[in-house]
Amino acid sequence: MGYADYGGGPEAGHEHHAGHPGTPVAELVERSRRPADVTETLTAARDGDRITINGTSPGPTLRVTQGDLVEVTLRNEDITDGTTIHWHGIDVPNAMDGVAGVTQDAVEPGKTFTYRFRADQVGTYWYHAHQVSHEQVRQGMLGALVIEPRRPDKGVRDEVAVLHRYGSTPTLNGAEGTQTVDAQPGDEVRVRVVNTDNALMPIWVTGAPYRVLAVDGTDVHEPGEVRDVAVKLTAGARVDLGVVVPEGGARVDFGATTALVLGEDPTGGAEPKAPRTFVDFLGYGTPTDPGIDASSPDRRFDYRIGRRPGFLDGKPGMWWTINGHLFPDIPMYMVEEGDVAVFHIENNSGESHPMHLHGHHALVLSRDGKEATGSPWWIDSLEVAAGEEFEIAFVADNPGIWMDHCHNLPHAAEGLVAHLMYA
Ligand code: C2O
Ligand code: CU
Repeated sequence: MGYADYGGGPEAGHEHHAGHPGTPVAELVERSRRPADVTETLTAARDGDRITINGTSPGPTLRVTQGDLVEVTLRNEDITDGTTIHWHGIDVPNAMDGVAGVTQDAVEPGKTFTYRFRADQVGTYWYHAHQVSHEQVRQGMLGALVIEPRRPDKGVRDEVAVLHRYGSTPTLNGAEGTQTVDAQPGDEVRVRVVNTDNALMPIWVTGAPYRVLAVDGTDVHEPGEVRDVAVKLTAGARVDLGVVVPEGGARVDFGATTALVLGEDPTGGAEPKAPRTFVDFLGYGTPTDPGIDASSPDRRFDYRIGRRPGFLDGKPGMWWTINGHLFPDIPMYMVEEGDVAVFHIENNSGESHPMHLHGHHALVLSRDGKEATGSPWWIDSLEVAAGEEFEIAFVADNPGIWMDHCHNLPHAAEGLVAHLMYA
């Protein structure tokens, strides 16, 4: 017997909250009376070795406006393992987090589940299955979600670029190769890039300088222009790139195989040349008050990632460990509402891990002992390379039980999963 999902181990428990535990009942009642501003039905269905949503993969891009009450009904047509939707990067109330075996039961074929949350955080997010995720996400049960500001930037073209591999074929918005946006010189384009894959993706712009406008949905404060450098996009993470289209056009390259051409292709279709240097978010943008004081945190936790031989679910193998423990014998990280918590993450496992914390955004304080000096760098997905060490801080302001796992999803299935729990 395997776990239904990597969150479904015996330790995970089956918590069913009636609503956001931190929200006063009166407000919950009020909210449930208020009609939703956006109502969607997403139907998940099997199509050969893919899973489609409303007939396509990626599923539809959901575009909502900040403050909207969003109501999405997931209908499982015929996914035999059952399925759910997790709103990656959106700090929804716990009961809406979509983690099978933790915040809800998987939705069986023929059944529905309705998610309701307020879209408070402007930015680029995505949604995906969180039941047997290492299979269902790879098979395509995913889509982008954009929360637009109430007053959008006028005159800026807005493009979504969902990167995903089906089998071994890299795709951009579900298609192979290069796609073209009909842009004119002088146009400003915001390209919202979502890495739904298990692997890190280098992205860069050819033919024009660019700015990284946002990371994981949060705007970078006064981002500077960069040129001939790439951005390493972590699995699960997002960046918004800002490009002003020059005469002769520009091209956003996603690795070596897919690209988004803005106007004309400045390379004339030549082989993409990946820059050798990368934007380092530890020092990118302009410092400003991050709105969190992590100088004397209420809690400090170690999150040491290792690897050793052992048994997982009765199977012998080399498994990931957290602080030396194998899943599911990993103690929960306990916080109280209002705490400022600091995680010290250390990766001595010999491989890279894109770590994803549910329900919270964390501020990167330092890497390998070097303090952050740029714009506050807020993440929900963080690449922790082999040998690296990070300190991150967050405010425990969203009660519930939350996963903190590797988004190279086979690693999560191999036990690289912890839980954050409110006392
Ligand atoms: Cu994007 Cu626990 O997942
Ligand atoms: Cu990993």
